[in-house]
Order: sequence, then structure tokens, then C-alpha cells
Amino acid sequence: MAKTKTTYFCRNCGAESPKWIGRCPSCAEWNTYVEEVVTGKTGRPATKRKSSAPPVLVSEIKAEEQPRVNTHSTELNRVLGGGIVPGSVILIGGEPGIGKSTLALQIALQMPQITTLYISGEESSSQIKLRADRLGPGKGKCYILCETNLEAVFEQLEKVGPGLAIVDSIQTMQSDLLDSPAGSVSQIKECAAALLRYAKETGTPVALIGHITKEGGLAGPKVLEHIVDVVLQFEGDHNHLYRVLRASKNRFGSTSDLGLYEMNESGLAEVKNPSEILISRHEDDMSGIAISAMVDGHRPFLIEMQALVSTAAYGTPQRSSTGFDLRRLSMLLAVLEKRAGFRLSAKDVFLNVAGGLRVTDPAADLAVIAAILSSDTDLPVRQDICLAGEVGLSGEIRPVSRLDQRITEAAKMGFKKIIISSAGKVSPAGRNDIDIVRAGKVEQVFRMLFRRK
Ligand code: TYD
Ligand code: MG
Repeated sequence: MAKTKTTYFCRNCGAESPKWIGRCPSCAEWNTYVEEVVTGKTGRPATKRKSSAPPVLVSEIKAEEQPRVNTHSTELNRVLGGGIVPGSVILIGGEPGIGKSTLALQIALQMPQITTLYISGEESSSQIKLRADRLGPGKGKCYILCETNLEAVFEQLEKVGPGLAIVDSIQTMQSDLLDSPAGSVSQIKECAAALLRYAKETGTPVALIGHITKEGGLAGPKVLEHIVDVVLQFEGDHNHLYRVLRASKNRFGSTSDLGLYEMNESGLAEVKNPSEILISRHEDDMSGIAISAMVDGHRPFLIEMQALVSTAAYGTPQRSSTGFDLRRLSMLLAVLEKRAGFRLSAKDVFLNVAGGLRVTDPAADLAVIAAILSSDTDLPVRQDICLAGEVGLSGEIRPVSRLDQRITEAAKMGFKKIIISSAGKVSPAGRNDIDIVRAGKVEQVFRMLFRRK
């Protein structure tokens, strides 16, 4: 019987120390060390050292483009860069209840060409069955295994020999080699490393579901993110239907593509044309609404910014924003006040991005300003106008990336006019489907939007 001993692990980077220390010497984070019981290294079976292959010249290596496994989900294929690479390990992170298990099960059910094994340490098989029934009839052969013991999982993996294994979640897995409880740093490291070895040795892709912490990072050590090939983040607002899937790391593709899903009663539906649902068409013009032509990743879409400006009822005016950076909003308000002479300092300002999405594209600035001014003056912005431009500290409108793509999307959606920066470069191909209006300063935009006919 191996003697139990305790060690301290850094929750952030997974570094190990025999004593508690306040600041991790490896990642420089404070107060991240936690005590864990571990069985001494002697408890591990001695692994046979394999004879290593000799080094090979790059020029002599045959580049084999491995065929990717089609997930039969356009959005997921896009985010992964064309499907799952055999032998890769994918980590899917997201807040509880956001739909990670639903996404994983849906993928497992809809792959007709391979056998999938869905390993759950969180739900019983009947719970999973209920969920699978909601998701509709599956096309593929999907086995369910409710197990938290890693060794038992490997036994079944060997028996089933699936084409894709899904582990829901890595925090519930526990290896017999360690005494520490499931979810502890050492268990997560050990289980993930064992599953990674399995993936690389057998060429079976493995998807790991990971919880995220209060701060928004993936729970468990950062090493988890380092060892896996792909890290996907599943995000969204619980009160809204839309979910965004994006890659924060991808060894086999770009990280700038995103997938958009809508959660409904029969699972996650792919959103093929985001612009159509993210803007609402109203019968009459309403003030406080402006449309931004944004790009997230490689994908252009139009999104509605809604603002409400009212006289502050109490002494200190309130500023609140959903889906848009509050500091950026304060900056834009200061620019409007100082550079364009709008008196907003005694007003409450509320900003909302439609659909519960988060906007980080700087091109949204112009639409935010338009929505605020529209609400403040109670003059509606015409529904066939959209905007794309970044606002600088001196009130200048700066050009943004991928302007052509934004303009094409706006024209496709039937917009008649797009306001962009006067310095923005648009390819010379004549466009007569949309009117491109250029502005250099925020006060010009105001005149363009609200000039009486
Ligand atoms: P779940 O996949 O269990 O989240 P996670 O694994 O990330 O914790 O998703 C749970 C939520 O999804 C739950 O609030 C209900 C909702 N949901 C639907 O709206 N429709 C469905 O068809 C399913 C299966 C779930
Ligand atoms: Mg779950």
C-alpha cells in the first residue's frame, strides 16, 4: 500500500509544490495553491519505455492530409476548420446549463458513418435517453456509458472501439492511480493525459467537456488547454436562445470562425443566416435603434443596437450595457459630450445588443453612437441604414477591417445606405445596390442620420 502524501497544486497552471506558497512561481498568480492527497509516484505502474524512432528530415516526411471526420453540422465543421482531425483531442468549455451536453450528444447522434461513444459522469442513462428523444431520431450508432472511473472507461473504449469518444465532463473522471477526488487538479491532469495518449495511439478523436470557473476560465489547470489540440468555447446568454461556438485554440485551423446556434425545444438548431434574425423589422420607425454591420471571425452579420437615454431620476446618472463593453460605452459618451457637444452627463444611458450576443468588434461603435443619439433626440434612424466604423478619442471615425464583406452583407439584407469612415478603403468595383456614405467625424454622422428631408 503506497503511503498517502499530500502535495500542493496551482489551480491555474498545475504546478506542483511540496509546501503551500502564496504566489505561484510558475504562473505568478496569487492564492492558487490547493492541497491534494496523492499516492506517491510508486503507485503508478512502470510504463515500458518504447524505442524511439530516429529523427527524420522535414523534406523526407510524407505530408499526409488525413481525411477529417465530418460532424454533419455545418457550424461545427466550420469552427473546427473542416471537421474533426483523427486522433485529435477537443476541449469544449462553457458555463453550466449553456448546452454543452446537448451539443455533444447531438453530434454523437448525427454521425451515421461512425460509431460514437458518449461517456457521461454527470447524468444517468435514462436522463440521457430523455434528452436524446428530445433531439429527435438519431442517424448514427451511438453508445452511452455512464461511468466516472477512468480505468473502466478505457476497458469499454477498447471493447467498443468508437470512431469518436465524448467525455462529459473531464471534471467527473477519476483515475484509480490517484487518491485525490474527481475534479482536483491532479485528477484532471492525469485523466486528460491518459485520454490524450489514447487518442494519439489509436487515432480516435476524443471530445472532452470542461466546466468553467466563476472568472470564465476553464476549470482545472491551464495545462489542460495546453495539451489538447482544439479548445472550443460555447457561450451565450441564458435568457436568450442564441449560442456562439468559437475556437480559442485550434492546431488544425483558424480560430477566427464562429458557429451560431439557436437553442429550441428540440436541441440546438444551426443559424444559417444570422442577419435575418438579429435585426427586427418594425412597422414604424422607432427611436433608439441602429444597425451595425459587424464581422465576427470571418463572418459578417448585421446586428441591432438598442439604446435608451433618459433624464437621470437620481443624482448620479446610470450607465448600463448588455453585450457591449461598459468602459467602451463610457468612452463613447465622453466623446459625444466633449467633441460633439451632446449633453449626456446628466442622463441615464442603457445599451443593449439584440439576441443576447456579445459584441467586441470596434466597428459597432458607430451604431452604438447612432442608437444613443437617436434615443436622446427621439428621432428614429431610417430602417434601411446601417453603420460600420470605429470611433476614436477625438471623435474621428476610423476605418475598420473587411469593409467589402460588410457592405456586401448589408446590400444582401436589403439595406440602401451604409455609413463608413471617410478613410475606409472599398474595392473599386462599382456598387449600385447600396449607397456608401462616408463620414469623418461623429457630428457629421448626426447630420446624415437626422437631417430632415
Ligand atoms: P445542457 O446541455 O445540459 O447544458 P450543460 O451541459 O452545458 O450544462 O443544456 C441544458 C439546457 O438546455 C437546459 O436549460 C435546457 C436546454 N435545452 C433546450 O432548451 N432544448 C433541448 O432540446 C435540450 C436538450 C436542452
Ligand atoms: Mg452537461
